[in-house]
Amino acid sequence: MIDEKPAILGGKPIFSSLVPIMQPTLPSIEDIQDDIKEILLTKMITNHKYVQNLEEKLKEYLDVNNVIAISNCTTGLMLLGKTLDLTGEVLTPSFSFSATSLALIWLGLKPIFIDCDPNKFTIDVEKVPEKISSNTSAILATHIFGNPCNIKKLGEIAEEYKLKLIFDSAHGVGSIYHNKKIGNFGNGESFSMSPTKVLTAGEGGFITTDDNKLAEKIKIGRNYANPGDYNTAFIGLSGRMAEFNAILGLKSLKMLEENVKKRQKLVSYYKDKLKKFPGIKFQEIENNSRSSYKDFAIVVDSEKFGMTRDKLFEALTLENIMTKKYFSPAIHQQYAFKPFVQNQDLDLEATNELAKNILCLPIYSHMDFSLIEKICEAIERIFINRSKI
Ligand SMILES: Cc1ncc(COP(=O)(O)O)c(C=O)c1O
Repeated sequence: MIDEKPAILGGKPIFSSLVPIMQPTLPSIEDIQDDIKEILLTKMITNHKYVQNLEEKLKEYLDVNNVIAISNCTTGLMLLGKTLDLTGEVLTPSFSFSATSLALIWLGLKPIFIDCDPNKFTIDVEKVPEKISSNTSAILATHIFGNPCNIKKLGEIAEEYKLKLIFDSAHGVGSIYHNKKIGNFGNGESFSMSPTKVLTAGEGGFITTDDNKLAEKIKIGRNYANPGDYNTAFIGLSGRMAEFNAILGLKSLKMLEENVKKRQKLVSYYKDKLKKFPGIKFQEIENNSRSSYKDFAIVVDSEKFGMTRDKLFEALTLENIMTKKYFSPAIHQQYAFKPFVQNQDLDLEATNELAKNILCLPIYSHMDFSLIEKICEAIERIFINRSKI
């Protein structure tokens, strides 16, 4: 098999149909049909029993004071920014998904881009203090692919400079930082339950915070900031979760621990198979911490590997293996953000390098190890033939 020509050189693709980059791990029809029947019969289809149940179960799982279910993570970031009264500039990584900065811009805030750690891919905490100005109100950091940021250092900086600290924890459910679950940190965190996430509700998300007063405000905020008498209390939005999504979320939550543990094994298997290739690097996870491995990324050093990331992407596509260049382009490189990077000192060397060389390989919780074996075989035959590609 390995000796065969790769598809990019005219060989037969290693997979006859497309291997997706991810698939949601879903409950069976039997498993949800009674709950669905109930909401259809009672006609209580939004923000009711199942949403409240999901909030309770997440509180237990994460061991936090407050969980507020919402329509998605982006809305959650906007609600956090609004209810924490953020103003002016917010320090945030450019190496993240666009939504991290989009939420800030919708609030009229200016993202100030901070470089990332080249090994952990999360915000480079050493570069945060130099970007703090009299206009800075907060830090918004992302747990990239589920890898927890350096939360301890970020907390110290936030305290010293009296900044709010919030997390884009879209990838972070099931992640652990220094033996504590992600969800327990900063002023608040916003999570995603969209289909690409380890915990999914179809669409949806939730906010965690230990601050009871803030939680009350967010609960009102997700409902147009209508406190109940239609006398709008502040500029809220429409960000509730539907019961159907909560039913899916509850079933997904039951599988979460098992799924995160499976992902640790899938990643170990990948790493074991890929470590023999020169110029392939993996994301570093701190001790006493755990990544949810929402994604599994490799970084390609084109000189050592003998091929660029883009060529490898192309070659794997022709093998019918779907990969993603997350997060490339980085936020500061994207068209819509051009007006926001003017007059910014863009010393984002590690971000630029990572955006150029990163590639996410297929991973999902119910994935079979044999699939990884074959994906790695495809990489091997591409590697063996790299001088001809
Ligand atoms: C880092 C990050 N933040 C925010 C989001 C947006 O999540 P949602 O679709 O739930 O708004 C995503 C989506 O994948 C993401 O990757």
